[in-house]
Amino acid sequence: MSRRIRSCCSLLPLKKTAALLLAAALAIGTAGCTHQGAEERETLRIGVALYSNEDTFIASIAQHLERMVQETEVALGRRINLSMVDGGNNQTTQMEQIDRLLSKGCDVLLVNIVDRTAAAVLIDKAEAAGVPVIFFNRQPVAEDIDYREGVYYVGASAEESGRLQGELVLEAWRDPRIGLDRNGDGILQYVMLEGEPGHQDSLLRTEYCIKALTDEGVAVEKLAGDAANWNRGQAAARMEQWLQEFGEGIEVVFSNNDDMALGAIDAIREWGGPGLMVVGVDATAPALEAVETGELYGTVLNDGRGIARAMLDLALALADGREASEAVDLQEGHYVWLPGEKIGQELPGPF
Ligand code: GAL
Ligand code: CA
Repeated sequence: MSRRIRSCCSLLPLKKTAALLLAAALAIGTAGCTHQGAEERETLRIGVALYSNEDTFIASIAQHLERMVQETEVALGRRINLSMVDGGNNQTTQMEQIDRLLSKGCDVLLVNIVDRTAAAVLIDKAEAAGVPVIFFNRQPVAEDIDYREGVYYVGASAEESGRLQGELVLEAWRDPRIGLDRNGDGILQYVMLEGEPGHQDSLLRTEYCIKALTDEGVAVEKLAGDAANWNRGQAAARMEQWLQEFGEGIEVVFSNNDDMALGAIDAIREWGGPGLMVVGVDATAPALEAVETGELYGTVLNDGRGIARAMLDLALALADGREASEAVDLQEGHYVWLPGEKIGQELPGPF
C-alpha cells in the first residue's frame, strides 16, 4: 500500500493536492486505528467460568460481579467486558468454554472450577495464552496454585466457616435456656448434611464444626450423615429419611450450606414434629429470612460480595501490570481469604 502512495505522489504536479489529501486521509486513518487500538487495549476483558449458575451462592457472586463491574466502569471511566459462562456442573463443557474464552482473547480468567483436580490442565492452557487465572470458591490443591506464576485463589476458609458453625452450636449447648440436650444424656446427637463429595468446603466444614465442640469437651454422637450436593431437594429427601429413623432423637442438624439447611427445614415442617435446631453456612438471602423467622438457628457468612470485590481488584491490577499485593491482601503470594462471621437470631445488618 505504501508503494502505491509513492507512485501516486510521483505522478503529476497537478495531482499533488489530491495526493496530499489521500496521504492526509491515510494518516487520519492510521491515527484512527492507533486510537482504536489504544481503546481496545484499555478495555479490560474478563472471562468468568462458573461451575453452575443454578447454585444459589454462586449465582449471588455472579450478580455482585456484574454490579461491581458496572460501578467500576463508571468510577474509572474504563470499559470492562465481562464474558460469563455457565459450566452446567460439567468439566468437559467448562474446558471447552475456557478454550473459547482464551481464543476470543481475554486479559484475566476467573474460574469456579467444576472438578478441582482438573486445575493443572486449565492452568497450562491459560499460561500458554499468557493469561493469569484467579480461581474462586472451589479450591484447587496446593500443588496447582503454590508453585505457579499468575495463579491465585480467592475464597472463604472452609476450616474457619466450619469452626464458626460449631461455635454457634457450642454457645447454644452451654445456654441452659435452650435445652439442646433434649434427651438429657449429656451427649449431643446430630445429623450431618454434606455438600459435594471431595469439595474442600464439604470435607473441612464437616470436620471442623464438630471439632469446635469436641475441643471444648462436648461429647457428640453422629446419628447419620450423607452428601446432598449443596442441593435443597436432595437435603430434604435425606432429612425425611432421618426423621423417620430418629425423629426427636436428632438434637442438631449441621448442614454444610444454607440451601441444604433450608431443605432440612422443609422436611421438618412436613414431618410436623417439634422444630429442630438447624445450622447452615453462606448467609444467602433466603437463609437470612429463615434466621429472622427463627426456623434456621444460625448461619455463617460466606462473603460472596467480598469474593467478587477481591477478584475484580486483583484482575484490574494484573491487567495493568501492577503487583497483586498492592490490590488485595495476598497471603503466601497466591491466596485471598475472606473472613466469615457468625449470624444468629439477631441479624447484624444487611448483606
Ligand atoms: C460453597 C457454598 C455452597 C456452594 C459451593 C459451590 O462455598 O457454601 O453453597 O455454593 O460453595 O462450590
Ligand atoms: Ca443428647
